[in-house]
Amino acid sequence: MNEDFVVTPWEVKGRVDYEKLAKEFGTSKIDEKLLKRIEKIAGELHFMLRRGIFFSHRDLDWILEKYGKGEKFFLYTGRGPSGHTHIGHLIPWIFTKWLQEKFDVELYFQLTDDEKFLVKRELSLEDTTNYAYENILDIIAVGFDPEKTHIFTNTEYAKTQYKLALKIAKHVTFSTAKAVFGFNESSNIGITFFPAMQAVPCFLPSVLKKKNIPCLIPAAIDQDPYWRIARDVAPRLGFYKPAQIHSKFIPGLGPSGKMSASEPKTTIFTTDSPDIAEKKIMGAFSGGQATAELQRKLGGNPEICSICQYYYFLFEEDDEKVRKIFDDERSGKILSGEHKKELAQRVKKFIIEHQKKREKAKDRIEEFVLRD
Ligand code: TRP
Repeated sequence: MNEDFVVTPWEVKGRVDYEKLAKEFGTSKIDEKLLKRIEKIAGELHFMLRRGIFFSHRDLDWILEKYGKGEKFFLYTGRGPSGHTHIGHLIPWIFTKWLQEKFDVELYFQLTDDEKFLVKRELSLEDTTNYAYENILDIIAVGFDPEKTHIFTNTEYAKTQYKLALKIAKHVTFSTAKAVFGFNESSNIGITFFPAMQAVPCFLPSVLKKKNIPCLIPAAIDQDPYWRIARDVAPRLGFYKPAQIHSKFIPGLGPSGKMSASEPKTTIFTTDSPDIAEKKIMGAFSGGQATAELQRKLGGNPEICSICQYYYFLFEEDDEKVRKIFDDERSGKILSGEHKKELAQRVKKFIIEHQKKREKAKDRIEEFVLRD
C-alpha cells in the first residue's frame, strides 16, 4: 500500500499518519491529563475526545487555565463553501456545538466564499456565495445557540473584516506565506492575500469588544498552516495567539482518503435523499474478504472498513457498542452486507432528521448572520 500522504489546506491525499503529521506540524497531542481537565469543567467527555478524533492542540492548556480563572474564550471555526455540506464537515461542527454548550461561549463562524472562488477554477463568485448560504442552513441545523453564534460570509462581512486583514497582511511577507502554503509564481495574487482574511476572526471579537479575548479554534488539522500565520502576527498586533484543537478526517466510503466533495460516490451530502445515502452506504468499501465464506473464516479489518469507521466517527456514541462492531468485523462474525444495511438505516434516519432542521433554518438565517 502507498504510505505517502499529503495534508495541506487545499488538499488531503492518502492514508494520513496522524502521529507523524502532529510532529511535522509541531502541534501537541491531547494527553490524559488534558482530557481530565476538560472533563472536570465540562462534566463529561465528548466521544470525539474519548476516541481521539480530536487528538491534537496548540495552547489548549492555556485556554483552560484562563477559563479556570474566569476569563472566557470564544470559539472560531469556518467552512470553505465549495459545494454542499457532507457528513464529514459536520464532525467538527457537532463538537464545536458541544464546546459552546459546555463552556457557555460565543462562536464566530466564517464562510470563505472568497477563498473557494480563488482556488477553484470551475466556481464563480456567485457559486461560492450561494453555497455559503446553503452551508449556513446545515450550520444552523447542527443546533448552535442563536444568541451566541455569529455567522458571516467573507464577501459580505468585508467592510468590518478588511481593516483588520490589512493590519495582519502588513506583517506577513510573501516569503513566509510561500513557505507555509507553497505559493509560487503562478499563484494568483488573491490567494496570497487570503490567509490574512482567515486570520481576522482570531482577533475580531477582541476588536469589537475592545478587550483581548482568548480564541479557541476547533478545526480539522489541515487548517493548521493558517494558524501558524495568525499566531506569528498576534503579538505584533497586541493580541493573544489563537489556540487550537485539531480533528482527524472522516474517511470516505471508498478504499482510502478522507471524505471529499470531489468524489460524490463515496461522499454523503446532507442534501442527498435518504435513498441515495442508503445506496452509497450499500456500495461502500468494507475491507472485508471477497466471499462470505472467506469473511467468516478470515474476518475483516475494521481500521480500513469504511462502515466501521462511520460508526466510530459519528453514528455510534456508545464506546462498548463500537468495540463490539469492530470485534465482529475482525472475527468475521458479521458479513459486510448486514453491516451496511444496519448503518444505512441509521444514516437515513440521521439525514431525515437533519433535513427537517435544515428546512426550518431557512427562516432563521438572519438570527445568526452578522452584517455590517
Ligand atoms: N479554509 C477553510 C476551508 O477551506 C474555511 C475556514 C475559514 C475555516 N476559517 C476557518 C475552517 C476556521 C476551520 C476554522 O474549509
